[in-house]
Amino acid sequence: MSTNTQTETASLQLPDQTIELPITVGTENEHGVDISKLRAQTSYITSDDGYGNTGSCQSKICFINGEKGILRYRGIPIEQVAEHSTFVETAWLLIFGELPTKDQLEGFSAQLTEHQFLHEGLRHHFEGFPATAHPMATLSAMINAVSCYHPDVLDVDAGEEAFMSAAARLISKVRTIAAMAYQNSIGQAMIYPKPDLDYCSNFLHMMFSQPNKDYDLDPDIVKALNQIFILHADHEQNCSTSTVRMVGSSRANLFASCSAGVCALWGPLHGGANVAVLDMLGHISDNNIDMKDYVERVKKKEVKLMGFGHRVYKNFDPRATILKKAADKILPNLGVKDPLLDMARRMEEIALEDSYFKDRNLYPNVDFYSGIIMRAMGIPVSMFTVMFAIGRMPGWIAHWKELHDDPKARIYRPRQIYTGYTERDYVPMDKR
Ligand code: SDX
Repeated sequence: MSTNTQTETASLQLPDQTIELPITVGTENEHGVDISKLRAQTSYITSDDGYGNTGSCQSKICFINGEKGILRYRGIPIEQVAEHSTFVETAWLLIFGELPTKDQLEGFSAQLTEHQFLHEGLRHHFEGFPATAHPMATLSAMINAVSCYHPDVLDVDAGEEAFMSAAARLISKVRTIAAMAYQNSIGQAMIYPKPDLDYCSNFLHMMFSQPNKDYDLDPDIVKALNQIFILHADHEQNCSTSTVRMVGSSRANLFASCSAGVCALWGPLHGGANVAVLDMLGHISDNNIDMKDYVERVKKKEVKLMGFGHRVYKNFDPRATILKKAADKILPNLGVKDPLLDMARRMEEIALEDSYFKDRNLYPNVDFYSGIIMRAMGIPVSMFTVMFAIGRMPGWIAHWKELHDDPKARIYRPRQIYTGYTERDYVPMDKR
């Protein structure tokens, strides 16, 4: 795999000087102006609110072409991964760079099984959360709490084997934490994982079994869950992954970094959008709002069309396309007729015919249909963003590892353009 090469340079003409800046070219021919020496050479910095034009790193994990609606995990198109892989296999691919051999997959699965339980001391933490606790708050808190019971994960320089164990522990336990948080929130006994179940089946078992009755595992739901986790597994430098890299750049441990990622994902502009989509469609339905009237409110900027738009995709989000097809297949298979699915399809039609959305390249994103499928699977809305976090965990871990393994990696410390008071006429502090 050819890596990036520096080719021509860019000339930057400043009021008092002109300098040449190296241009870095990625393997997919993305061009970046390397400004790493700009301030030292000119005292200037760049300004890019929201980092829409700034590359924070070089990465080999995930590639997105937003104009063409392309998404690849380690070079493999998302359509192929979603159709032919499992979430556990995808996790290995993202973290270690290649699809696992049979032995590697068996060994990794065995580690996930080994680490699926929580220390009994941790179970009591759940009793300290009120039933009304938001599951994303519980998830973030419990991820750090797990590291208190496994202090070995705090040593970020303990080597590859220790990393593998920490990664397996985190991927396995995030599922157990989420399910126990849910059972605790509805006042039900927490259900222990079963070593003979695969990753997704075990999660569904822990979420929906009762002490006296096991959940009846539907293969269609297990396959749909695998696909949902796969589609959420990584997405280059999104807000939460950049947060994980930011925290990890201080050499904070994997659990602390991913716990921060959970908090970033929580926001309705990011991973919380899947809940916001259902709330939006439910509000329209419950109040008999005409969809075209709602779209007019969106165009007046009174509300956003949740589940639409994306910083990178200026075409269809390929994950939305896959999820829309999946919804069309899964809901009838489950005997579910959800009026919100029909509403979502209608909303998409209305928006995509309207120049307001076309002019702004606003298309459905991963969150527009995912909530409808999860609702049909029986996942409570309060857990939708937690599902996103479980799916994104391998991506966060892969990026933390990539940063940690880079000998040139530095702590993330952006600059700013200061716009506050320069000096104020006020009584000197020591004279007040
Ligand atoms: C995820 O980054 C990732 O990769 C994220 C993600 C991942 O896998 O990690 O893909 C997951 O977070 C998907 C996005 C989920 N969020 C939503 O669905 C919330 C609704 N979407 C928007 O808030 C918005 O589109 C963002 C946050 C996703 C992107 O915001 P940007 O890139 O900052 O875009 P912008 O706000 O500058 O919008 C550009 C224009 C503006 O209009 P004008 O000022 O040009 O007139 O488009 C408009 C915006 O008002 N616009 C919308 C809109 N999104 C953008 N108008 C109405 N509804 C929307 N949803």
